Amino acid sequence: MLLVVEFFITVFLLVLAYYKYSFNHWSKLNVPYVLPTLPWGNYPNPILRKENWGEVAIRMYHDMKKKGHKYFGIYLFSQPCLVPTDPKYVRLFLAKEFTHFNFRNFYYNEKDDPVSAHLISLNGDKWRKLRTKMTPIFTTGKIKTVFKVFVECEKVLEQTLSHHSEKGTAFDVKDMFASFSSDVIVNCAFGLEVDMFRKNEFSKHTKKAMNFDMARCIVMYLGAAFPQFCRMLGFRQIAKSSGDFFIEVVANTVNYREKNSFIRNDFLQLLINLRDQKRKDGEDFTIGEITAQCFIFFLAGFETSAATMTFALYEIAANPEVYEKLSQEVRTVLAKHNGEVSYEAIKEMSYLEQVVLETLRLHAPVYSVSRMCTKDYYFEDGDITLKKGSSILVPIRAIHTDPYIHPEPMKFKPERFHPTNRQKMDQYSYLPFGEGPRICIGQRFAIMEIKTALAMVIRNYKFSVSPRTILPFKPIPTTLLHDVQGGVWLNCQKV
Ligand code: HEM
Repeated sequence: MLLVVEFFITVFLLVLAYYKYSFNHWSKLNVPYVLPTLPWGNYPNPILRKENWGEVAIRMYHDMKKKGHKYFGIYLFSQPCLVPTDPKYVRLFLAKEFTHFNFRNFYYNEKDDPVSAHLISLNGDKWRKLRTKMTPIFTTGKIKTVFKVFVECEKVLEQTLSHHSEKGTAFDVKDMFASFSSDVIVNCAFGLEVDMFRKNEFSKHTKKAMNFDMARCIVMYLGAAFPQFCRMLGFRQIAKSSGDFFIEVVANTVNYREKNSFIRNDFLQLLINLRDQKRKDGEDFTIGEITAQCFIFFLAGFETSAATMTFALYEIAANPEVYEKLSQEVRTVLAKHNGEVSYEAIKEMSYLEQVVLETLRLHAPVYSVSRMCTKDYYFEDGDITLKKGSSILVPIRAIHTDPYIHPEPMKFKPERFHPTNRQKMDQYSYLPFGEGPRICIGQRFAIMEIKTALAMVIRNYKFSVSPRTILPFKPIPTTLLHDVQGGVWLNCQKV
């Protein structure tokens, strides 16, 4: 018994000594830093989960920026992480010095959890090859071919709005757009026409895959800090039942297409073509690997787009002058295109684009992006060497609400994105899709989808904010992406 107690005391003291040594990192380098606590470093306590990690990062950023720091240090557990507050350094880490900072420390486990090995989490050569091969999937030409899917999925929007306008009841905006956005992405990424049964199964497994409960949160934090250790223990990101479900759906669809020589214009078809090409080059692209990419299109594209549509419609409802200008534009452009919601018509709606871009500034769904240092880097302005394994955190929402960068940051002003004003904006101070070679691959697809959904609802309806919406917005402490407590509720009226 005494031996066991001694063992635990020794382990405890060793861990304590390790932390004490690690927490000296930034002070030794003379870098301003935020005081960490044991054992989470600057992460909020993942067990209590009282505050969202993204919100903590925003607070740290604004505090340090007010003190005049152009960068500062934090700790993710015991691992040092540098946070730039100056767009000049954002550019340095995300783009200019990409050879040193091309890893994203996003935990994945290819062996036990193949669906987690997707474009977002992969690094190095595997990422580079896949990114090059997948880039053609998102060209303007390809987006034009899938554009009709956006219009075909309008039904769910019209059903919700006609029902609530007739009844005079408020509707949950996120619910409506989540349904639209999941129909679009299941159709484009998994190659499925959506029926109710599949929709229920999909929503069950995607909810599971997107639910960041305490255990998942700990795996994510631990996996980012100690990936090898977590892989050794077989930690997963996605529940086995959900991983198996997605693999089965993709395998069945691929088999069906092969047996029936069926070809469809969607992302899955492009991934199948990629596999055939790889096979010719003597390489393989397994069903697990294909599924992982379909899955990430869904995971990365579904909620981000639905959230953007939701907050855009909220701002449109809350700012009647924006609504007037927008509905005028939508009607004029559609009239020019014989009332047809076509790719060309949506492209022409320039004020709508400004509204979407401003929404992505003020309500960016992704809190931050990160990079890991892959070889020691001498950071000249700081006169310090960033060691291999340390990381960089770029807190997007903090930069977007930085009054030194975006004057009156909490005001919704689409004119910021008028072409003449946009030209003056530093590219590295507006980052809803990240930046550099790892920038969001689906950004053009997303903007087109969001604009189309908004144009379709605005042409027939007028909106006002329902008292059910809790204002000012309060972020939910447990979500990975930004979301608000109580949801966004609007009333609508047919025009
Ligand atoms: C409003 C909608 C969206 C937002 C705000 C968004 C935001 C982001 C951000 C911030 C990143 C990280 C970039 C970085 O680290 O520099 C990212 C990466 C990514 N996004 Fe999106 N995204 C959206 C829609 C989509 C859609 C529709 C798809 C696919 C259909 C998609 C697929 C991806 C993928 C695959 C990556 C990883 C890219 C790589 O590492 O090479 N996203 N996205």
